[in-house]
Amino acid sequence: MKFFVDTADVKEIRELNDLGLLDGVTTNPSLILKSGGSIAEVTKQICDIVDGPVSAEVVATEYAEMMREAKVLAKIADNVCIKVPLTLDGLKACKTIRTEMNRQVNVTLCFSANQALLAAKAGASFISPFVGRIDDTGADGMDLIAEIKQIYDNYDFDTEILTASVRTVNHIKQAALIGAHVVTAPPATLRALVKHPLTDKGLEQFLADWAKTGQKIG
Ligand code: G3P
Repeated sequence: MKFFVDTADVKEIRELNDLGLLDGVTTNPSLILKSGGSIAEVTKQICDIVDGPVSAEVVATEYAEMMREAKVLAKIADNVCIKVPLTLDGLKACKTIRTEMNRQVNVTLCFSANQALLAAKAGASFISPFVGRIDDTGADGMDLIAEIKQIYDNYDFDTEILTASVRTVNHIKQAALIGAHVVTAPPATLRALVKHPLTDKGLEQFLADWAKTGQKIG
């Protein structure tokens, strides 16, 4: 499973990348706002740190303007993955970006299996189902991940399932159990994956016993 971090915080991205944990990055207009920087500068900084795909989102809602923005974003770096919304114009842009620009596309704001089917047919590199926002409605976001996995497997689609709007470590475990290709999560959620009280307790005991031996390694 690939790990992407869902943030435009360059410091966090650098730290997680140094840990060897990152396969890519996802941003969106809300995360760019939070970063306080310009989309061009922030995206360039992120692309200089991370080798994998860095999703940068168009904000136009009509095809022609989406394509203009996609070309501007693509010029920032070779690993910019163009993110488009799951609308008819977004799907049309997805198809053109894939076939004419040979660039990766992340189709975002997916809330149904049929939307994911359309994205795969448009040649999307990634489909981003928002599991946390589905959970917020009282439904189970993971049911959607399982449905998309089955549909994509049925037809051998190449589109990768990028589990998004992840809020908990349990979302990551469930997505991995279902076989989602990628998860994108906030930095704190990725860091929380390592935590277990028995690991802390065990380490404390080992270190206390080691101190009693009076030994040093090397
Ligand atoms: O990956 C999409 C994400 O940025 C949205 O997350 O928590 O705002 O639903 P959230």
